[in-house]
Amino acid sequence: MLRGALASLPALTVYAGLGRLARAQSAPGFNRPLPIPTRLDGQLRDGIRTFALRAVAGQSQLVEGFTTPTWGYNGPLLGPALRVPAGQPVRITVRNDLAQSTTVHWHGAHVRGRVDGGPQSLIAPGQAAEVAFRLDQPGATLWFHPHPDGRTGPQVYAGLAGLLLVDDGVDRTLGLPTTWGIDDIALIVQDRRLDAQGRLLYMDRPLDVMGMKGDRVLVNGRERPYVAVPAQRVRLRVLNGSNARMYNLAFNDNRPFQVIASDAGLLAAPVEVRQLLLAPGERAEIVVDLARDAGRSVVLQSDSGDVVPGVNGHAVRPDALDFDTISLVQLRVGPPNGATTRVPAALASLNAPRGDAPVRRYTLDAMDMARLGASSAMPGMGGARPSPDTGPGGMSMGTGGRALFTINGRSMDMRRIDQRVTRAVDEVWDIQNKAEMPHPMHWHGTSFRILSRNGAPPPAWEQGWKDVVLVRIGETVRVATRLDQGASDAHPFMFHCHILEHEDNGMMGQFTVS
Ligand code: C2O
Ligand code: CU
Ligand code: CU
Repeated sequence: MLRGALASLPALTVYAGLGRLARAQSAPGFNRPLPIPTRLDGQLRDGIRTFALRAVAGQSQLVEGFTTPTWGYNGPLLGPALRVPAGQPVRITVRNDLAQSTTVHWHGAHVRGRVDGGPQSLIAPGQAAEVAFRLDQPGATLWFHPHPDGRTGPQVYAGLAGLLLVDDGVDRTLGLPTTWGIDDIALIVQDRRLDAQGRLLYMDRPLDVMGMKGDRVLVNGRERPYVAVPAQRVRLRVLNGSNARMYNLAFNDNRPFQVIASDAGLLAAPVEVRQLLLAPGERAEIVVDLARDAGRSVVLQSDSGDVVPGVNGHAVRPDALDFDTISLVQLRVGPPNGATTRVPAALASLNAPRGDAPVRRYTLDAMDMARLGASSAMPGMGGARPSPDTGPGGMSMGTGGRALFTINGRSMDMRRIDQRVTRAVDEVWDIQNKAEMPHPMHWHGTSFRILSRNGAPPPAWEQGWKDVVLVRIGETVRVATRLDQGASDAHPFMFHCHILEHEDNGMMGQFTVS
């Protein structure tokens, strides 16, 4: 059914963005510096590292010449990078100064369901919540973002997202680059669509429900910025914080770079590549050697056209940018700063994942596309209706809360627990994609290892710790995991597609751990 409906889409939709693309990409870019997220170490109070976040409204200059109403944590857009020492107690207060309820979810963190910030943990306008946890997990670049049922997409799109850095000191011990903003640089890649006044447009076209993609690509909230870097090894922690767009990371001179970490920790060994596909929600830490580039500039870009249209299939409607090369950020290489860094041949010792544990199955699908057309008149379908509240600058809060996508034949219902997992027991998850589009799948409360893709071992850069896995069209992916954190019926964990419009429209389920 899906296939039929999509085949009838006018070819026009694919090319509609070309005019704007030409303008955006030929614009004189690299005029404004890359914003570096403030790294916070928190304050020690009674032996507990304490952080404060406040969700607020403000204004940002996403693209040159426009002021855009946005939301952010502790500022108008995105948020600070919270550095949390592994194994030590942490307390975070979250204050909601927005006019609608929100939650803050710690994506990739091994925390109990009670403090995971899922849809059950709403913070009302003007209210504050406090969570306490301890992260017993490897050093990693995690992140945090809202998770209200049916409104995750628009709240992230409005600007709410930040980094959560688990620090176990291993990167320093190994000699990896660790000087924040100098040779250790976080890059949050997101795309947005703006109206003629520069206001955010969200899901203003019917097919945006297949995944909201914009034609302006931002890094740390700014289109085509530059950053000054020393002529030495530079570590880039890249988060694909986009609602739906994939990126195929590469440098404009096609130089090789080393992948040192995946979503939730260092790889066993660095992997040299020239391109790296990153789906929504995924992170990669890469190291690029700029020792011979003093006085030159290098551009990190997305060679989307090489890979993305093929992965997307028809349903996610590769748009003009998906066929193109997207400039992300220009690295302006200055003199070396004398720091001695290295990328050792061995980074972490990772056990071989256990493939012989009991298997739990997940089947991914979409419902009849006819429902897409009838969408706005579907009362009572799968959970909360979208909030009538508006986003920044009157941005639409979208049309979440519908039952358009399914996992194991069911769409999200907050009143239903879909899976009950036994704590501290090895499991294998078998994820089969029967839909006509790829789905980056994510589970709360744990990290996992990829055992196989269609029966074959995954590429080397996917053999470390993950919490999002892209499941391609027609593919079956197997992962090995174990849940060590508890989650009750009142505060279950979520599993979902990280294309946020899929998540908001049913492609999510709930599980307990006890
Ligand atoms: Cu990044 Cu359930 O989320
Ligand atoms: Cu998550
Ligand atoms: Cu999906």
